[in-house]
Amino acid sequence: TRYKVVVCRDLGPDVMPLLRGKPELELVVWPEDRACDRRWLLENIHGAAGVIVMLTDKVSGSSLQVVSTMSVGYEHVDVNAVAKRGLKLGYTPDVLTDAVADLSVMLALMAGRNGGIGISVVQKGQWTEYPWAPFGFCGPQLSTTAASPTRKIGFIGFGRIAQATLARLVPFGITHCLYSSNPSSAPSSERDAQLAQKYNLQSVKRVDIDEVARESDVLFILAPGGSGTYHVVNETLLRKMKPTSILVNASRGTLVDSDALAKALREGWIWGAGIDVVEGEPQVSVDHPLVKEPKCVIVPHIASATLETRRDMATRAAQNLIAAILGGQMPAQVDLRGFA
Ligand code: GLV
Ligand code: GLV
Repeated sequence: TRYKVVVCRDLGPDVMPLLRGKPELELVVWPEDRACDRRWLLENIHGAAGVIVMLTDKVSGSSLQVVSTMSVGYEHVDVNAVAKRGLKLGYTPDVLTDAVADLSVMLALMAGRNGGIGISVVQKGQWTEYPWAPFGFCGPQLSTTAASPTRKIGFIGFGRIAQATLARLVPFGITHCLYSSNPSSAPSSERDAQLAQKYNLQSVKRVDIDEVARESDVLFILAPGGSGTYHVVNETLLRKMKPTSILVNASRGTLVDSDALAKALREGWIWGAGIDVVEGEPQVSVDHPLVKEPKCVIVPHIASATLETRRDMATRAAQNLIAAILGGQMPAQVDLRGFA
């Protein structure tokens, strides 16, 4: 038998041969270099055994045996429907952890140091209007200094990506790490103590989200999207943050109330924001409240966008699909127990 497999995006010359090399698979590949049309997907998924989707494609099931997404997040997949139909769901954790952590640090630095404003001044030919000045473009420093020897880094969500981000910040001299995490995950003071010791920090502590907001100099949002985390960063939380603090979101736009964040930046409740994801993206125009905020540095959902990582993610997505259809062990399968 041959299994029809729908591939919602060309995965490139390194990865497509993995799929094309399997005689058991009959591939139907979206031919264009843009997100596939919903209608095309719905038409072609009919009778398919598997599908490889991007986070831009919404899927729920039908005749499928497997949904393989080229992303670590899977809130675009109706997991309840997938679980109810007994489908397998593959995703791409781990391979993007470092790339996303790298970008999270970049956003923290960009936002703190007025990177967005600085770049725009130069690009608009306005440097002469903003020559070097003793306190021009100054923002809060990420590294500690002799006169300012403590830095508290906070995380909403404390999975692999958050911990990789923490590791990158150690050489900046940070002293404390606070995080809040999913109530269903067991607290581990042992792991916290181990991390503090490993990185020579004064403390690593799981606290409630309000305390993370109140205490953090830089607050990273690195938790999954979906209904469970919708607008966890809202006006109430932002009002608790320090006026010198930086907010970084490299997870999903839905975790942040954009209007509240724009207000927080406008009114100086926080210093700046570094944003990789915006609710409603990619429909984010120049009139969007966050785009209009000079202290908001926004990049268009590129946290995992390195040549190496995207190739690894595409490879993993192909391997997950092939394994599920040909009866092997998927390299990275979402645990769907508890759904449906
Ligand atoms: C990116 O946002 C991903 O979920 O992989
Ligand atoms: C979340 O998926 C993480 O890796 O932190």
